[in-house]
Amino acid sequence: MNSHSTKPILVVGGSGKTGRRLAERLTARGVPPRMASRSSEVTFDWTDKSSWAPALAGVGAVYITYYPDIAVPGAAEAVGAFASLAVANGVKRLVLLSGRGEEEAQHAEQTLIASGADWTILRCSWFSQNFSEGFLADGVIAGKVVLPITTVAEPFFDVDDIADVAVVALTEDGHVGQLYELTGPRLLTFREATAEIAKAAGRDIGYVEVSTDDYLAAVAAEGLPQELVGLIAELFTKVLDGRNAHLTDGVSRALGRQPRDFADYARDTAATGIWERKM
Ligand SMILES: NC(=O)c1ccc[n+]([C@@H]2O[C@H](COP(=O)([O-])OP(=O)(O)OC[C@H]3O[C@@H](n4cnc5c(N)ncnc54)[C@H](OP(=O)(O)O)[C@@H]3O)[C@@H](O)[C@H]2O)c1
Repeated sequence: MNSHSTKPILVVGGSGKTGRRLAERLTARGVPPRMASRSSEVTFDWTDKSSWAPALAGVGAVYITYYPDIAVPGAAEAVGAFASLAVANGVKRLVLLSGRGEEEAQHAEQTLIASGADWTILRCSWFSQNFSEGFLADGVIAGKVVLPITTVAEPFFDVDDIADVAVVALTEDGHVGQLYELTGPRLLTFREATAEIAKAAGRDIGYVEVSTDDYLAAVAAEGLPQELVGLIAELFTKVLDGRNAHLTDGVSRALGRQPRDFADYARDTAATGIWERKM
């Protein structure tokens, strides 16, 4: 454990996919997490700078997740401004959740580094949990996953592994100045990932490809906010061009073990019953 371990650790986005898993792990290590988001007791809102300093008071370190996505315009400025405020308030130990192959995400990483923080960057590939806790979950449950045409494979990454890396980065020595590029152990296309889920869940789940334009029009009509429509457009037209279709050693560097495989994620998630068809 490092010297920050007795003070609370601020978990920005504490109710999110990675934040709540990190909070469980911090608590198990006897380090109090301070959950921070718009709905938590300690209010934190990326769009309201006046909420930032009170959330930082008395903490020893911060886990930063930006919302809605580290790749949207303005994310880098916000992350840089928040990191600089933290450092000015004496909180130097900052761990940022970032994304792979995204210009704005890599810009956000630079603003974190420029803040003078003792930084660690977790640069992650697509979360496996997008299929169970994110925008693909409804399609899986309905038995039909619809996505833009893509044959590019992705090394889907289990968010439990993100929390495992984050907790050691925040509470143990040896992680300052490390950029961990985090991928799963296997490349899968979205079609193959859907097939693995169908097998694990023991049911038919179709996979339908449509043009990117048709897909974006459909999700916009369903009420997805415009900035997220823009983000999905960027992901499928730009980021999913093969630039991320390779494996990295980030998990073994940080944890000394291999990352969890998508099949393990699919098996364990199916066992929770979350993918059963709703009557
Ligand atoms: N999904 C992926 O595949 C993937 C891959 C790599 C990196 N990432 C990055 O991971 C981060 C989290 O993405 P996610 O979609 O997985 O999110 P998520 O887990 O669904 O978490 C959203 C969290 O952000 C909070 N939040 C929402 N609006 C906020 C605001 N204005 N100010 C402060 N907190 C706010 C939410 O709580 P409240 O509603 O209470 O505010 C919640 O705690 C993003 O930066 C994304 O770029 C995602």
